[in-house]
Amino acid sequence: MNTENLINKTRLHVEKEMTGDGSGHDWWHVFRVWSIARKLGQAERADPATVELSALLHDIADWKFNDGDDSAGPKQADEWLRANSAEPKLIDDVCEIISTLSFKGAGVATPMRTIEGKVVQDADRLDAIGAVGIARTFAYGGHKNRLMYHPDESPVLHQSFDDYKKNTGHTINHFHEKLLLLKDRMNTDSAKRVAEKRHLFMEDYLDQFFKEWNGNA
Ligand code: NI
Repeated sequence: MNTENLINKTRLHVEKEMTGDGSGHDWWHVFRVWSIARKLGQAERADPATVELSALLHDIADWKFNDGDDSAGPKQADEWLRANSAEPKLIDDVCEIISTLSFKGAGVATPMRTIEGKVVQDADRLDAIGAVGIARTFAYGGHKNRLMYHPDESPVLHQSFDDYKKNTGHTINHFHEKLLLLKDRMNTDSAKRVAEKRHLFMEDYLDQFFKEWNGNA
């Protein structure tokens, strides 16, 4: 199968698998990551097929929905690409990216080896911040039955992936435990510029949130 057909077929497969999820990890998250990854990939001269397939398959079986099993995603991507006769090198590159992409806690480094990996990780992280990021964070919190906010619970900067996975804190804490850290963890200059704007928007949002919470706005 040529690359263009493989990408189209993968898009349809992922759309079918991920439609209707209410946690902020639905098909439209993947669609946005795919769109922005293509742009970043062009600016960074990354290999388009690796970028597009990794973006499309990056959440196909996210650890958050597989009882903390972070090997489920790369395994499903591998099976899918193999079943569609993708080149072995392409399969390896895509699966490596998917297995190393996720944020794993404030104190845990998640470096990407290739420019394609850097691009897709940046794209996924950009979708976690800004207006869409805020919406997704509250959608995920609701999905997990979390409070929006509790004044007595402070954020925790998790130093291990295990601690991060077990976290059950309220959603405003998640801004401090992840979202506000992301602008300094972008890999590419193109993503850093976008992240800067989205970061400022989140700071304004939190400012207004607390004003309203305290009856001052
Ligand atoms: Ni994602």
